[in-house]
Amino acid sequence: MADPSWGEHAYATLLLNDAYLPGALVLAHSLRDAGTTKKLAVLVTLDGVTADAIVQLKTVYDYVLPVPRIRNDKPANLYLMNRADLHSAFTKINLWKQTQFSRIVYIDADVVAYRAPDELFDLPHAFAASPDIGWPDLFNTGVMALTPNNGDYHAMVAMTERGISFDGADQGLLNIYFKNNFHRLPFTYNVTPSAHYQYLPAYRHFQSSINMVHFIGPDKPWKAGRNASYGSSAYDEMVGRWWAVYDRHYREKEISQLANGSGNYNQAYESQKNASLADTKFDTPAGQGWQNQTPRQIFPWEANQPKATRSFYGDEPELQPQGASRSGPTAAKSTGRSSVTKSPPKSPVSRTSDNKSEAGTASWTTYSRGNAWDDVPGISKYADAVEKRHRSSSRGKEGENDEDEEDEQEESRRPFKVTDFPSEKERPSLPVTPAPVPRGRDATGKALPAAEGVPSQAEWDPTAQLEKLAQQQSAMLLRKLGGGKEGVSGGTNQDVSTQSAESQTRIAQSAPVVLSPRPVKGTAAAATRSLERKMNEEEAGKS
Ligand code: GLC
Ligand code: MN
Repeated sequence: MADPSWGEHAYATLLLNDAYLPGALVLAHSLRDAGTTKKLAVLVTLDGVTADAIVQLKTVYDYVLPVPRIRNDKPANLYLMNRADLHSAFTKINLWKQTQFSRIVYIDADVVAYRAPDELFDLPHAFAASPDIGWPDLFNTGVMALTPNNGDYHAMVAMTERGISFDGADQGLLNIYFKNNFHRLPFTYNVTPSAHYQYLPAYRHFQSSINMVHFIGPDKPWKAGRNASYGSSAYDEMVGRWWAVYDRHYREKEISQLANGSGNYNQAYESQKNASLADTKFDTPAGQGWQNQTPRQIFPWEANQPKATRSFYGDEPELQPQGASRSGPTAAKSTGRSSVTKSPPKSPVSRTSDNKSEAGTASWTTYSRGNAWDDVPGISKYADAVEKRHRSSSRGKEGENDEDEEDEQEESRRPFKVTDFPSEKERPSLPVTPAPVPRGRDATGKALPAAEGVPSQAEWDPTAQLEKLAQQQSAMLLRKLGGGKEGVSGGTNQDVSTQSAESQTRIAQSAPVVLSPRPVKGTAAAATRSLERKMNEEEAGKS
């Protein structure tokens, strides 16, 4: 063929946003350090990964390949595993479209390689993956050896469009697609440490044959911070291996850039070195000029840090006049958190752990209960007005004026707190707990008539009902799948290759949600709340 690169072997990973950048960099370095002879490729979604991040990626990856984001628009199944952040995990399917490579070994960005598993390129199987620790009959999609081809690609795109995935993400889709057709790789290619369960004797026994370690779940080594890796558990050891690679390539840079920001390289560098390389806090003796200077940014996300919007009791926010006279980003937040202001900005990794330890000390001992909003006059005024209106309407019309006067005198005597509970005098209408009404009887004790059309408790069999529901869903799914063949051969495929990568966001419109016939723990309301919370959290990338 005309393309001279056809037939190349490549390790590939996927980056949906900058949050996983440290992971992608460490993965690439770990493979290179281990002496791989293969090319390294990273698939990126340009609507999530910044230009600065791409510059960083280009220092270690041979290919940075833009791909369209494939979003799961009906992500109900993601909530079953509490991972709403995986809404775009279907994007991984783009691997099968990379037919410029004859073979890909895909590795999640939250993996560190202990050795380069180049032998996976020579497997005779079209698809191979290691068992999943949560359900070992399944394979984990964090490490996969695959052969790109358009047939598999379009078939799986059709599945994303119907939301066919039991976990709402790539693993639930790929395990359906390759159900009886995968070669099972040893666990040593995708060891997934867990802080909750680790089979320690096996870990010790197989430790020396580990090929790659995969940090599944929402906690990632770069988020937990370097200090988290100094325990002695198997989990800590593996996190320590990730940090070892990070430090090999970025630690010196981190320190020297910090020092360069001050123009006092040696002093800062020496004091950092002596302060122990293990310690991510950059606190050094007071009075050094460089502490007050903002060092040059190392990572792209440092440039666009969102401004904190919450204020805490003890902070003196901009709302108060004296806030305006302060200058500089650190000064604005100094009250009660002096250790933060002494440290110059750090890499995101160290910041997390430091904040944790700071929160654990001084702030709690001086903590008192209160609401920072109580001191904002506008808010108290508004709350007063609302309360007054409520009070006058609940007391009726007569004597209204007198009472208002009385209220005003009272108000000038007490400082109004939004969080205060009103006294009985302030709120005579405050309801008292009503006496319980016995079941099946009205307030006077008379028996209520039986409800019509409601089956009796004995008739109601939840298991049978759930089975019925599951059968209905399977039937619907079968119908849909039967009718989906045209989609596979092109009907629903919006010819991704002709669109510009930036504009591409494929919305997977799932018709049926494949739910197992088991009741989900917790209420629907709780699930919705947790979903909202998740969605509001920083949009994390892939797991
Ligand atoms: C597992 C896999 C990960 C995948 C996720 C959702 O955590 O390791 O690669 O994205 O499941 O399917
Ligand atoms: Mn992962």
